[in-house]
Amino acid sequence: MLQGKHILLGVTGSIAAYKAAVLCRLLKAAGAEVKVVMTATAKQFITPLTMATLSKNPILVEFFNPENGEWNSHISLGEWADCYLIAPATANTIAKMATGVADNLLLTTYLSARCTTIVAPAMDCDMFAHITTQTNLKTLQSHGVIIADSPAGELASGLVGKGRMAEPEQIVELVAQCLSSEKKKSLLAKHFVVTAGATIEAIDPVRYITNHSTGKMGYAIAAELATRGAKVTLVTGRTTLPTPQGVDRVDVLSAEQMYNAAVEAFTTADGAIMCAAVADYTPATVAQQKIKKSDDDMSIPLVRTKDIAAALGKIKGERLLVGFALESDEGQQSAQSKLQRKNLDFIVLNSLTDKGAGFGVDTNKVTFIDHNGSTALPLMSKVEVAAKIVDKIEEHYALSPDC
Ligand code: C5P
Repeated sequence: MLQGKHILLGVTGSIAAYKAAVLCRLLKAAGAEVKVVMTATAKQFITPLTMATLSKNPILVEFFNPENGEWNSHISLGEWADCYLIAPATANTIAKMATGVADNLLLTTYLSARCTTIVAPAMDCDMFAHITTQTNLKTLQSHGVIIADSPAGELASGLVGKGRMAEPEQIVELVAQCLSSEKKKSLLAKHFVVTAGATIEAIDPVRYITNHSTGKMGYAIAAELATRGAKVTLVTGRTTLPTPQGVDRVDVLSAEQMYNAAVEAFTTADGAIMCAAVADYTPATVAQQKIKKSDDDMSIPLVRTKDIAAALGKIKGERLLVGFALESDEGQQSAQSKLQRKNLDFIVLNSLTDKGAGFGVDTNKVTFIDHNGSTALPLMSKVEVAAKIVDKIEEHYALSPDC
């Protein structure tokens, strides 16, 4: 993913600094060359020895080596880097970056670097939510810095909320996306709707019907489309995933809400990729009060939901429509019939019987089926599958440029 890329990893003094070690390993495993700049406080959380061993490069903290006076040039570091990744980034460092304070090597390097800068904030939820931090993050964004979305979760303080550093795997994907987007903006004036994740069908105020979809595949597709310059409206069921960079996100719960949001977004779109696991049935009525249990068995009358893909298929005209088929057997025939019935341009078949494919996992094994035949792909990461799907979307426009 990052073969031969130069990544300058900036580490600041956060408890999440231990994750910088994993991040460094993942960057190296992806083929990148890594140099590490640390603040003085970061050294109290993770040792320079650890980072030097993992990056296979000496760690840079001071402007010059006090023993021999050797100068650590922030300018040449900035020139060397294809990407400056500051992870974890404390509220303090973010504030200094936003205002141009340059009182350590990490910050002077930021001011002189011309490459893409990515910041992965890591702090307590109250500090993260504070208007000053949010304003500083917006300032950095307006300066072209990419912010790795901070997911909600348990924090070192014991509090629960937003402020955790994004997981190293997600950060590496973001770095790869940012670096590849610098080259390819092939879908620049196109707008796509992507549906992702599971819907939630309420039974009463407490219970609901859902499924195991986590949204990973749809989010990876949305990210890849945005990376290649497209405008993306991501209509998403409930998920813990961060919003991909540059994507407009519309949160929904039920199949009905997803239908309405997708149909509305499709009015101005050039195409749609239907990746969501939409409930096929929903309770006929939603009880207003929590249903009391009794000793009797119970059954819940269900009614059909609207098929969003089929509805878009009816109005799509020349626009592109991609569907998914998740089957518990080989499923070629069933996928073929969905391709016709829903008026799709192509369908991505994944089978639950394939090891490493399906819900929750980071990999997938898919077969593309279009009106000319099928192509089976090997097992690969969902990010790589997303890139293959978007390659196929690009091909579609190359073959029919008027779409
Ligand atoms: O018919 P089936 O649910 O297997 O079709 C799967 C495809 O149709 C997926 O692309 C899925 O996102 C889409 N779909 C939809 N609305 C539904 C059901 C499925 O958009 N109500």
